[in-house]
Amino acid sequence: MSPVSNTTPYIAELSAPQLRSRLDDALAVYVEAMGYPDGTGRQRAPMWTEHTARSGWRGVAALVPGPEADRSQEEMVGIAYGYRGAPHQWWHQQVRQGLRRAGASEPHLHAILDDYFELTELHVSPRSQGHRTGEALLRRLLDDRPEAVVLLSTPEVHREDNRAWRLYRRLGFTDVVRNFTFAGDSRPFAVLGRRLPL
Ligand SMILES: CC(C)(COP(=O)(O)OP(=O)(O)OC[C@H]1O[C@@H](n2cnc3c(N)ncnc32)[C@H](O)[C@@H]1OP(=O)(O)O)[C@@H](O)C(=O)NCCC(=O)NCCS
Repeated sequence: MSPVSNTTPYIAELSAPQLRSRLDDALAVYVEAMGYPDGTGRQRAPMWTEHTARSGWRGVAALVPGPEADRSQEEMVGIAYGYRGAPHQWWHQQVRQGLRRAGASEPHLHAILDDYFELTELHVSPRSQGHRTGEALLRRLLDDRPEAVVLLSTPEVHREDNRAWRLYRRLGFTDVVRNFTFAGDSRPFAVLGRRLPL
């Protein structure tokens, strides 16, 4: 068997304290992957920290081993986390409104929102993209989840032409709400979902 390249990331589950202790690294992956301006990470830190305390939170990271498997020198090149959705959460309320506006029936609302896992963040550093690291993170994050459904939101993109859209479509995510604007953000988003298990 050929040895595993020392630049190949492996996927590891992160506990909430582990993510909090490596929050700067995780936010750096997020800022670089999304192409956001410097300073965005600092702004997002309190929210990501608060999320780790939510019911059903799970986080996973893609890590490149350091020399001689020195864990202190592992580089984080991917991050994903999510938690169990609940009616008091802002995102849940926004999606409910979006579904209502789109004419969803009450049974449909219940089928989607009663028992779901929110995939909140999924990011891979640009230089590590295109090698199925995003897919591996997603699969690990959703492995053995107790919820019936997974939901996520992603910016609308012309012809669904970016890696995130291709990844979600390849893994069977379908439209829940399209061209939805969340309060306080003028960009159109899509809410996508699929039944679990993946
Ligand atoms: C979305 C994201 C997490 C996906 O991570 P990734 O590691 O690039 O994803 P994957 O490699 O699993 O899939 C992406 C692409 O690689 C292709 N690919 C990967 N390995 C492949 C292989 N061995 N053979 C053929 N195709 C392959 C996939 O088909 C897919 O197609 P594309 O290159 O045409 O886009 C990452 O691209 C990212 O962080 N993007 C910016 C931030 C973002 O949009 N996050 C999501 C916000 S909701």
